[in-house]
Amino acid sequence: MKMLYEGKAKQVFLTDKEGEYIVHFKDDATAFNGVKKEKITGKGELNNAISSLIFEMLEKEGIKTHFIKKINSNDMLVKKVNILPLEVIIRNLSAGSLSKRLGLEEGIEFEEPVFELCYKRDDLADPIINDDHAVILGLASRVEIEQIKKETLKINELLKTFFRKANLRLIDFKIEYGRTDDGELLLADEVSPDTCRLWDIHTNEKMDKDRFRRDLGSVIEAYQEVLERIK
Ligand code: C5P
Repeated sequence: MKMLYEGKAKQVFLTDKEGEYIVHFKDDATAFNGVKKEKITGKGELNNAISSLIFEMLEKEGIKTHFIKKINSNDMLVKKVNILPLEVIIRNLSAGSLSKRLGLEEGIEFEEPVFELCYKRDDLADPIINDDHAVILGLASRVEIEQIKKETLKINELLKTFFRKANLRLIDFKIEYGRTDDGELLLADEVSPDTCRLWDIHTNEKMDKDRFRRDLGSVIEAYQEVLERIK
């Protein structure tokens, strides 16, 4: 199979069928714009399983995604899209780069979800941008940005409820959208503990990639626990 693209944690392959790609989840973990790197055996399989369950749930709730089906341990069949170079972030509680940038301790609950956009560019370390910047850079139209914001807030509500049932608190997350050849926006990429901050609802234990970023203990044990709880 021809590889179309290789990212830090995934590869995308062409299939025999026009309009369908395969996403392969790798065991690689990176943080701080690729400065910290490690192979974590089993991570790809867990993220594929978790992402697949989440895409299935979101599809059932009326969200349009690139997901078609999980085809084996590390691979997912998806609809062909062009990924917008935008990281779309929602924050329900303070953590991570927001805490650092605004001098807020972690774990403060916001009255409303905070919506952020970052420009996906490794050489610029993914700077935070506003709607106007996204438009002048030609990343998305004004109408698309509004649509993305509305859809992402809806996804936040669905994810919060979904994770709450698994005794997990959704602190924040990053998603990406893709455009089909017909110009339709679909939720793409992945939704996993690599891209969501998830804290145990009772103990506040971190069950996500911060374990890797901050050396807080086994990544695999936490991701496995997340999978067991959402199954
Ligand atoms: O680091 P920061 O606090 O900005 O991250 C916000 C959310 O976006 C976190 O859930 C993090 O896992 C996710 N994120 C991501 N990929 C990036 C940057 C952030 O999945 N490149």
